[in-house]
Amino acid sequence: MWSRDIDVDWRDIDNINTSSRIIYFINFIFMTIPPALLPLIEIYRKNGLRRYGLTGVTQLEHALQGARLAELDGCLPHLIVATLLHDIGHMVHDLGETPAATGVDDLHQRLGADFLSRWFGGGVTRPVRLHVAAKRYLCRAETGYAESLSDDSIRSLKLQGGPMSSEEAARFRSTAGFEDAVQLRRYDDRAKIAGLPTPEIEHFLGYMADCAVSG
Ligand SMILES: [Fe+2]
Ligand SMILES: [Fe+2]
Repeated sequence: MWSRDIDVDWRDIDNINTSSRIIYFINFIFMTIPPALLPLIEIYRKNGLRRYGLTGVTQLEHALQGARLAELDGCLPHLIVATLLHDIGHMVHDLGETPAATGVDDLHQRLGADFLSRWFGGGVTRPVRLHVAAKRYLCRAETGYAESLSDDSIRSLKLQGGPMSSEEAARFRSTAGFEDAVQLRRYDDRAKIAGLPTPEIEHFLGYMADCAVSG
């Protein structure tokens, strides 16, 4: 379910689709990528240029750095894809680049997971939905984790409910997707290095195609 308070800018996304017919056609002919996945790539090409919170990287750079870490760690495709797309919720609303800086929680984990459910099953959407909870969990469960967070993550943590209580942490450990969510979170936290070279997003299309349940 979409949040009552946050509107997804579907018109913008539909415009991306309209303006990218040639790219779709070229991909369809030469790259054998399911055409239904290409709107996702276009969202990153356009809205991925937004700054990632108050860090020195863009949303796209953050996504690519995280996905590359997951890939180099030998993760299964669903976790590489979840890491690549985990913050897409920041790119499908109209609240601006850094809503957390003005005290607004954009609930991007829910927006993103619901949005991605058009293309992917729970293997991808669960860790996306839980990656904020994983931060709150690690703040409770792991000594030194909270201190290791970037200023940006600390600011958003307060809006997101702060560290879990002991009871919440115990419940979270038994939640489906817990381990993937925690693993994604570790890549997320490390994927904020300005200027770090990564592959282009097209490098990850094969993983996305492997994981897609439609299109
Ligand atoms: Fe996030
Ligand atoms: Fe992130």
